[in-house]
Amino acid sequence: MSPTPTADRPAEDDVRRALLDAARSLDRLGLNHGSAGNLSVRWHRGGSDGLLVTPSALPCDRCTTDDLVWMPIVADRSHDPRPDGRRRPSSEWRFHHDLYAHRDDVHAVVHTHAPHCTALACLPSIQRDGLPAFHYMVAAAGGGDVRCAPYATFGTQALSDHALAALEGRRACLLAHHGMIAVGATLEAAMALAVELEWLARTYALALSLGGPATLPAEEMARVVERFRDYRP
Ligand code: 13P
Repeated sequence: MSPTPTADRPAEDDVRRALLDAARSLDRLGLNHGSAGNLSVRWHRGGSDGLLVTPSALPCDRCTTDDLVWMPIVADRSHDPRPDGRRRPSSEWRFHHDLYAHRDDVHAVVHTHAPHCTALACLPSIQRDGLPAFHYMVAAAGGGDVRCAPYATFGTQALSDHALAALEGRRACLLAHHGMIAVGATLEAAMALAVELEWLARTYALALSLGGPATLPAEEMARVVERFRDYRP
């Protein structure tokens, strides 16, 4: 089933290995644990746009590259897309699928239950206003705040719809009473943003405990968002 590798396109086995390595590094970094969280990358097969996603309910230390699941990206959602693999895809396949279906700029999706992001996403003020511009790096997610998607039961279309709305024009969001999502043009970019967002959440929690941070003005955040457009090695 693997497409023919070319000089500029890695083989599917390489992509499966990179996805599993990324999942394991989230565990090592303390951003995920057990079977919490899930990751995917956009992956075409033959003529079909699709995604490779981690399996459901399988801790990544027990997961092999053969346990990752491929699914087509379908326009017609009257039927669920049929997964190809020996495991069930992540219960959150809907928001992974829908992000690729609606966002050409998204090629990787990282969902974690990182502790500081998750703790903040349980606070009424964060659920209402998002993570504010207390530090310029908030703009790394693409705007002057990091929105928090309203709560919906895990694995539901409602959660996918909320997540897509919270991510509109952005690369990361919090999920109320649940965790966070980071997306990127590459797996490396989505992973780096997930790590950055957990650092921001931890630092914001510290600033709150010290009396509450001031915030940067909207014009400054707009300037930083612009500067991030060509901030890369
Ligand atoms: P899966 O094991 O089905 O990926 O679910 C974990 C999770 O984090 C649900 O939000």
